[in-house]
Amino acid sequence: MQWIIKYLTSSIGKKQIMGLSGVGIALFILGHMCGNFQLLTFDQAAAQASYNAYTEFLTGFNPLHFPVKLIYLVELGLIALFVIHIGLAIKLKLENKAARGPEGYDVNARKGKKTFATFTMIWSGLFILGFAIQHLATLKFGDHFLYMNDKGEIVRDMWLTTIDMFANPFWTIFYLISMFVIGMHLFHAIASAFQTLGLAHQKWTPVVEVAGIVYSVVVALGFAVTAAFACYVAHQPETQALREKSHSLQQQLEQKKADEAKKASFVVPASMDEVQVSYVVEGVR
Ligand code: HEM
Repeated sequence: MQWIIKYLTSSIGKKQIMGLSGVGIALFILGHMCGNFQLLTFDQAAAQASYNAYTEFLTGFNPLHFPVKLIYLVELGLIALFVIHIGLAIKLKLENKAARGPEGYDVNARKGKKTFATFTMIWSGLFILGFAIQHLATLKFGDHFLYMNDKGEIVRDMWLTTIDMFANPFWTIFYLISMFVIGMHLFHAIASAFQTLGLAHQKWTPVVEVAGIVYSVVVALGFAVTAAFACYVAHQPETQALREKSHSLQQQLEQKKADEAKKASFVVPASMDEVQVSYVVEGVR
């Protein structure tokens, strides 16, 4: 047990965990981007079916019938990854800065090593936090539309929630700006991770640096193209027809629920009438 504490508090342990959590986050972002590519089709009905099946699969996946849905464990893991990664990144950065002293810092600044991204790292980080709050509030916890899949099951219409958000040009522009900020942030974070981790290899460092640039550009562009395309799709007549279909399904289900509630409340007075009628009949006799 003690070796774990020793490892976790050692400089190399913190660096390795930060690196690993960073790889986990990078893989999540890449996977999320690929999943969202299902929005990139001109066949809106097909996009709606596949996107809803995909989000339904992610949120409902529970093959071993755990008492807790797997998505909650995944979300817990994601939160842990972000908290550990950001916490350790700040801690290591401060430790590095303290070790270098104020002079080392100035030397770097004079050498011109501080790029636009370095200066704005804290601001881009805060902006991304704002983006994350808007993102989860509007999509995950946003409007809850319904969709009937090809098995006749009623599931959440996450496609419509997403498309409806991008129908608002303000949010689309906000996403395009956010993707630029996220791209810059990732690019700088990856580059500085190698400095922080103290990895310097003549052959591999340049290769990994190029891979970091490619990753940041691909992720920023991939999400940005998806956002712009979703905005375009949101204003097409086919989308309007699917939107109306979803709203009418919602109304039908609400009507059905109201009818059932009415029927249930009607049963009591009806039987009361029967009691009264039989009482009157008994009385006449
Ligand atoms: C075009 C851009 C994007 C679209 C259309 C999109 C779509 C979505 C949707 C629909 C959800 C809710 C999934 C559900 O509850 O079933 C979601 C959740 C999430 N998104 Fe995005 N997203 C985009 C960009 C991003 C970016 C750039 C990041 C982070 C860098 C991100 C991080 C997350 C996270 C952390 C969640 C919560 C996952 C969970 O609770 O399981 N998204 N996104």
